[in-house]
Amino acid sequence: MIVGAGNVLSVFIVLIVIFFDAGVSIGAPGPKFKDGGNKHNLSFSNTGVNYKATSASDPRANQICIFCHTPHNAKPQTVLWNRNDTTQTFGHYSSDTLAIHTDTTARTSSDYKTEPNGSSRLCMSCHDGVTALGAVLNGSAIEVNSSIYTAMAGAKVFDRTRITNSHHPVSFVYNAAVRDRLNTLEGAGTYKLPANAKVRLDREKRMQCITCHDPHQTQFDDPSTPFWVLGGTDATDAHDSVCTDCHTFVGNP
Ligand code: HEC
Ligand code: HEC
Ligand code: HEC
Ligand code: HEC
Repeated sequence: MIVGAGNVLSVFIVLIVIFFDAGVSIGAPGPKFKDGGNKHNLSFSNTGVNYKATSASDPRANQICIFCHTPHNAKPQTVLWNRNDTTQTFGHYSSDTLAIHTDTTARTSSDYKTEPNGSSRLCMSCHDGVTALGAVLNGSAIEVNSSIYTAMAGAKVFDRTRITNSHHPVSFVYNAAVRDRLNTLEGAGTYKLPANAKVRLDREKRMQCITCHDPHQTQFDDPSTPFWVLGGTDATDAHDSVCTDCHTFVGNP
């Protein structure tokens, strides 16, 4: 699907009208951590999820943040992870048309990493399908689904095949130099730096998993927008709003 600037503008105008007319919040965010069913809440008392802690006698089993963050650091200045780095290698997405891979200038300024780095590595420490979900740094592993060895299986696993073939590139710098080079190659205005504060780059200005995914709560509860950073008038709008913050087109890699 191609979304031109005109369409984006009309979506924007519709949003403003809905916002002021109805005075209600748009979109349908998914469950917060304290509600049942948030898949990133691995604590004992969660409901309706495939993976959660099962040992009632382990006091850590009732904590939510502990599976990702170190305790006593719930409002960190610098986010500290409570997980070991994954032992797997993933490679990175590439294609014949991906300039940050094929063009020397774009590749140099984007410093496109061979392996996911930064906070994307936290994601891989559960989504690799190998590391135990309850393997926290602070103390022994927490029992999940009745075993301290339970690792993720099924459709949500992000292994090498998935990373290299079919998901958006991550762990590359996206700054003015990269944008300008891409626009030189692909046409003026094809790429923009993200303007929405929720479409975040990390401290090194790298795009990461969290640029599209909000690991705490999806802002639009739909399979096409899992743990999504933005809401919208419908799932397509929520999805495309993230893409069009940088691209003038949308279409999944
Ligand atoms: C599934 C993993 C995961 C869980 C569970 C989790 N977080 Fe996070 N948290 C993250 C990631 C990833 C970031 C983003 C770090 C970054 O900005 O690079 C983050 C960032 C934060 C930040 C920094 C501000 C922000 O939103 O970026 C705070 C504060 C925070 N988390 C609090 C919590 C608290 C409190 C809990 C438990 C109620 C919790 N988190 C549970 C993964 C998690
Ligand atoms: C503590 C382990 C853990 C960490 C760390 C983690 N996840 Fe997950 N994630 C899970 C589990 C468990 C599920 C649900 C898997 C299932 O039901 O098959 C899940 C599901 C998801 C889903 C699918 C949600 C849906 O509604 O289908 C997305 C998207 C996702 N995670 C993204 C991320 C991203 C991005 C990060 C890093 C910022 C991350 N996860 C870090 C454990 C984790
Ligand atoms: C450009 C935005 C974007 C980035 C960056 C991104 N994702 Fe996604 N992700 C999506 C979209 C859109 C979907 C839903 C459609 C799909 O499954 O492809 C999704 C789906 C998922 C799912 C659920 C898969 C399923 O089949 O149910 C997981 C897990 C996930 N992403 C993890 C990650 C991880 C881990 C990273 C970083 C390595 C990442 N994503 C980076 C956009 C993104
Ligand atoms: C933070 C900015 C940003 C966001 C948000 C973003 N992208 Fe990208 N995307 C890029 C950059 C930069 C590239 C690298 C382009 C290149 O090197 O040719 C890229 C690459 C791609 C590619 C691969 C192009 C190729 O030639 O292989 C596709 C497809 C794509 N993005 C689609 C999407 C979709 C769909 C979304 C929303 C779900 C999205 N992007 C969100 C910046 C972004």
